[in-house]
Amino acid sequence: MRKQIAAANWKMNLTLQQGEQLLNDIMAMPHTLAHHQQVIFAVPSPYLQMAQLKIQGKQNVFIAAQNCYSKKSGAYTGEVSVEMLNSLGINFVVLGHSERREYFHENNQLLAEKVNICLEHAITPIFCCGEALAIREENKQNEFVSHQLKESLFHLSAEQIQQIVIAYEPIWAIGTGKTATSEQAQEMHAHIRHSLAEQYGTEVAGKISILYGGSVKAGNAGELFHQPDVDGGLVGGASLVASEFIAIINALK
Ligand code: PGA
Repeated sequence: MRKQIAAANWKMNLTLQQGEQLLNDIMAMPHTLAHHQQVIFAVPSPYLQMAQLKIQGKQNVFIAAQNCYSKKSGAYTGEVSVEMLNSLGINFVVLGHSERREYFHENNQLLAEKVNICLEHAITPIFCCGEALAIREENKQNEFVSHQLKESLFHLSAEQIQQIVIAYEPIWAIGTGKTATSEQAQEMHAHIRHSLAEQYGTEVAGKISILYGGSVKAGNAGELFHQPDVDGGLVGGASLVASEFIAIINALK
């Protein structure tokens, strides 16, 4: 079975102490993860080491960075490199979140460079894609998302693409409380898998985990994750509340 993933995206929230408490509370959950299930916490950069220490020895639990830079090292004040992540033992990074695309002007070309440097350093990108409301209203969401995948990912080899996790996050559903319906999510996830299959064949496409993100909560995770092409979620707001996120983890297939 494909990896089923509950990924928390803390964004720019919580103090160090609050983050530690939250991880303690979640790690105390009785549930053991099946071998195909993973839990990932994408925490702010200053908390990576703390978080990495907290999850030490926990099966199938990982820490992710929320971003990294496209260059190896050098005079890029304020940026975080893949070598730094390697030195902390971090194996995942969220790339291309719509907030990075919108507020920090990250485009598909820059993201392709970031994807490449991550793969060169054995870091799995959780690659975010998704359309704004205006694009959905014109019914152009499928071609928009295909274009994002094509420009940032489709230069990869069949072997490399299998090291990517994709997160579909419709911008109109992020932080708005407006979740895509499970039908809308399934429809787009099937479209993404179809695009992957056209490029890499169905066998490869069938191995790639595609997460849904956008107002996932305890109350809707079960229905969303039940969809055949939805392999878990990338969760913002609800990942900041231990009981909510534990329920989301429990909703994984
Ligand atoms: P949300 O954010 O769950 O608060 O909508 C999801 C995300 O942006 O990753």
